[in-house]
Amino acid sequence: MADVVETVTLDDVALVTIDNPPVNALGQAVRQGLIDAIDAAEANPAIRAIVLIGAGGTFPAGADIREFAQFDSGAPAPEPWLPQVCNRIEACGKPVVAALHGTALGGGFEVALAAHWRVAHPAARMGFPEVNLGLVPGAGGTQRAPRLAGAKVALDLMLSGKPIRATEALATGLIDEIAEHDLIDTALARARTMADAAAAGHPPVPTSNRTEGTRDPAAYEAEVRARRAKVANPNIIAPSKIVDCVEAALLLPTETGRAFENAAFGDCLTSPASIGLRHAFLAERRVAKVPELARATAREVAQVGVIGGGLMGAGIASALLGAGLSVVMIERDHDALAKGLERVAVIHQRAVDKGRLTEAARDAEWDRLNGGTDMSVLAGADLVIEAVFEDFDVKAGVFRALDQVLKPGAILATNTSYLDIDALAATVSRPSDVIGLHFFSPANVMKLVEVVVGKATADDVVATGFALAKRLGKIAVRAGNIDGFIGNRILSAYRTATDFLLEDGATPAQIDAAMRSFGFPVGPYQVIDMAGLEISWARRKRLAATRDPGARYVDIGDLMCEAGWIGQKSGRGYYVYENGARSGVENPDVLALIAAERDRKGIIARDISANEIRRRALAAMVNEGAHLLQAGIALRPSDIDMVMLFGYGFPRWRGGPMKAADQAGLVQIRKDLQSFAEGEPEFWEPSPLLLDLIKTGRNFGSLNEG
Ligand code: 3HC
Ligand code: NAI
Repeated sequence: MADVVETVTLDDVALVTIDNPPVNALGQAVRQGLIDAIDAAEANPAIRAIVLIGAGGTFPAGADIREFAQFDSGAPAPEPWLPQVCNRIEACGKPVVAALHGTALGGGFEVALAAHWRVAHPAARMGFPEVNLGLVPGAGGTQRAPRLAGAKVALDLMLSGKPIRATEALATGLIDEIAEHDLIDTALARARTMADAAAAGHPPVPTSNRTEGTRDPAAYEAEVRARRAKVANPNIIAPSKIVDCVEAALLLPTETGRAFENAAFGDCLTSPASIGLRHAFLAERRVAKVPELARATAREVAQVGVIGGGLMGAGIASALLGAGLSVVMIERDHDALAKGLERVAVIHQRAVDKGRLTEAARDAEWDRLNGGTDMSVLAGADLVIEAVFEDFDVKAGVFRALDQVLKPGAILATNTSYLDIDALAATVSRPSDVIGLHFFSPANVMKLVEVVVGKATADDVVATGFALAKRLGKIAVRAGNIDGFIGNRILSAYRTATDFLLEDGATPAQIDAAMRSFGFPVGPYQVIDMAGLEISWARRKRLAATRDPGARYVDIGDLMCEAGWIGQKSGRGYYVYENGARSGVENPDVLALIAAERDRKGIIARDISANEIRRRALAAMVNEGAHLLQAGIALRPSDIDMVMLFGYGFPRWRGGPMKAADQAGLVQIRKDLQSFAEGEPEFWEPSPLLLDLIKTGRNFGSLNEG
């Protein structure tokens, strides 16, 4: 294996290149290589200065996130640590110039800040994304950045996690120069100038001794105080630790400040939120690795048909237009088509009003949208997504009509929430071209697409689904064909668990509050009110014939639908929405209905704690997730986590239900399942996969790799 750090001597300058694809992450070998390179260059009398650069497309994009996983179990980090590397660079007796291109992020930017000069390519971006991983910058960044640029700039960068452009970094003092010409030549020239100055008795001032950012201590403290009040969060400690560290840069001597940062980094690294957020980062990248992609390449897609211009069809059309595709919308008749096109226009206008889309871009998108009421206009379409009513016969009719007009090789996709993809595929002459592309509402905003693979679906059709999702800026998750796929199936288990609690003594508002305290932005009954109760009602009616008559069944939702209380759109659901209000107050009629149902079933209401609500909800989701894994519907636990994070508002800092189960401990989840089993043993029956993992001392994480 080639060295991950290589030094080339260019006359009197050592050019040290970090070469650790894909992003030059600062793993142990790189860290050791950097120390060795600095030691060697300093010891070599022929060398007067050093230039640090990244090979390929980028300066290091940070510490090696994969390496962090070993600390979850408390193992010590392999030395040298990144702070030691940065301190070594800063202490080097010869000028060190960092030459930045690509993304100099996190630990990468910290390496640069420890150098004596930072020169950047004009297109380079730099920043501290650690907060997105539940971490503080841990290699001196919280101490060096504010010394150069003050508290405001440092806190903006570290608390937002967003990178800035080179011009902005230059304006704030975080970098020193933008290369007008070749980056390496500029860096080499600068290194020599600095070596000359050092020889003339003007060595560079180490960043840790710089004071530009700390000259107005009162303003600095005021900034720290203002941020501290805003970031307090008992679940995610990194933001408040970042504020503490930046304050330490003002108040504490260099060494003590670094030690303070080090302790904060350690606290964050082992915090559950960081474990969850790092899991989410890696899972988001792992989810795109599916077997079909290794076997096939995507088909070309330029023109897309969307059948149905309702809520979903309009949202999907808008997402497709935004990605530069041409769209033909088909509706039942001219009136419905006009309404569908109007829905797209409304989405566009909202984006323009919010400044997310220019009028020119809107017009360009609109030019790529056509409509019709006759499928024959789809003869040139590469892909058609149907989003008509959730009714098998209606969808089958659409598919049969499409089969008549589509060109060979065109893909037939369905946005169905629950229906059987294989049965739909059987209605056409080309089942291998059929796939589910399950978007989430609002489809122009929500990032998740479940790519549902039927038994006949061709590999390149799956690859096309993934490529399309990527083009739309969405996260695609591979799902097998089962009623509800991954997300709606887990949602259904979650709701069943909370419906039991409604009957047992909790109110919708109590359950919603408990789940918000778990981290969901809204509780399950708020969500149902928003989406409309009739959607899940239709499914329950469809499945009624196959339901186990002995299993516990909660009728509350059905009775509400029969009464016409179908949520926000009817002004009444689990909550009452007066005069079109978006947030509701408790619906006394529902509370009375729940009480009547308890009486009817002889249930005596009991006090149910928020903790029990959260535990039951999680156990139900996890157990269903395990069933889906065992049945091969989900490829891996972390894919389920992605579905729940991007489609259902599961708190990212918990990593997803399967990661949350690993964090709680699978034995604990099993204990919970067993203790809930009394009333409804079948629903809570632990999945054989869960039991097997416990028996073999593994967790869900062990199923993610490979
Ligand atoms: N460590 C390990 N692997 C990393 C990584 C990192 N810091 N950053 C990216 N990768 C990997 C990805 O997992 C992916 O691997 P794969 O090909 O096997 O799936 C590959 O690099 C490419 O990544 P992306 O798919 O994300 O590529 P993009 O081009 O879309 O984005 C990027 C590149 C902007 C660098 C993006 O990857 C990114 O934001 N990375 C994370 C940056 C970060 O958070 N850095 C801080 C780390 S924590 C730290 O430095 C602590 C320090 O303060 C002590
Ligand atoms: P909707 O009722 O808002 O829209 C359906 C549209 O299809 C209507 O405009 C109707 O005129 C049109 N349509 C019906 N039959 C047609 C035909 N034969 N030819 C052309 N157009 C026809 O329904 P919505 O909510 O947009 O759902 C559509 C599909 O998306 C369903 O399968 C649903 O399960 C699925 N879905 C819905 C989600 C939601 O939150 N509403 C989320 C994800 C998927």
